[in-house]
Amino acid sequence: MRRHALLAGLVALTVASPGLGRAEDQPIEIQVVDAMNKAFGTHPGFRANHAKGLVVEGSFKASSQAAVLSKAALFDGSTIAVTVRFSDTTGMPNVPDGSRAANPHGMAIKFHLPDGSDTDMVLNSLKFFPVSNAADFRDLLLAVAASPPDAAKPTKLEQFVASHPTVPAAFASAMTPNSFADEEYYGIDAFIFVNKAGERQAVRYQMVPERAVHLEAAEAAKRAPDFLMDELPARLKRGSVTLHLKAQLAAAGDSTKDPTQPWPEDRKVVELGTLTIDNAVANSAEAQKTLLFLPGQLTDGIEPSDDPLIDVRNSAYAVSFSRRNP
Ligand code: HEM
Repeated sequence: MRRHALLAGLVALTVASPGLGRAEDQPIEIQVVDAMNKAFGTHPGFRANHAKGLVVEGSFKASSQAAVLSKAALFDGSTIAVTVRFSDTTGMPNVPDGSRAANPHGMAIKFHLPDGSDTDMVLNSLKFFPVSNAADFRDLLLAVAASPPDAAKPTKLEQFVASHPTVPAAFASAMTPNSFADEEYYGIDAFIFVNKAGERQAVRYQMVPERAVHLEAAEAAKRAPDFLMDELPARLKRGSVTLHLKAQLAAAGDSTKDPTQPWPEDRKVVELGTLTIDNAVANSAEAQKTLLFLPGQLTDGIEPSDDPLIDVRNSAYAVSFSRRNP
């Protein structure tokens, strides 16, 4: 039960009180999940976002540089078992893998530490986030919901995009990969590493494949609806795949609280270790139901930054989890 201790606390915090009748009086994380349901439909048993996914297993081994930055047990050099879920964006369980709606793709990782606890990383293939706070994310989702193909122009989505230029900029960086294993994934939110000497360093995660391979939109649209979900298990039957976990290091003065603002490309990037994926789980559709990845499920040596999205993501993932496992 220890693994879901954070969840129990979060759900207790986010259960709406009976007096909160109006939508705008609900906690923001409930408003965001409700907005996801409006934009993507309600699909019992599935995640409110990133509904379609594939669960695989493998291990992580840290580099020697990682332990210099963080005292976390994750980085002590031992081999750590991992459970990984790759996913398509949207709450639509049947979204075609090659459609633009399925971008960005997600990679959620649960590291099973030797003491029996877990620590999670929840990444996607956007280089930065379209909005900087949960209220704007809710409004973006509501604008999507209010802009079907036949909506009057300018649509609510066009109006939202016009006033939030980071939205098209962020989505422009998301493409369809040839394989879940041929994609780059980003943590986007900043976290703080603390090392044995008590030194603190703000970082943003990057997960880098051996080779990133992207498809042109026209080519992606021609692929079979489940081509990403089918390709990786087939590839794993022929052998393991590896990706590299890296940390981009903030320099003095870099803001940690705005996920719409990437740090300059020349910031130092340190290799934290190698993630090896060995096999797809036998029944991925069942396995993913009870899995919960939380960006704030951390371990000693890794702390949240002042980025406000981290807390609200934790609460929203808990709301979605409690709805999909009533
Ligand atoms: C830093 C930006 C973000 C990234 C990298 C990200 C990534 C992801 C990924 C990879 C998943 C699938 C997790 C899985 O496989 O179980 C997911 C699910 C989800 N995300 Fe995000 N997300 C981000 C921002 C947000 C924000 C701001 C919210 C809401 C305030 C949100 C709400 C959700 C919800 C409700 C789910 C479903 C969770 C569940 O049922 O377990 N995300 N996200």
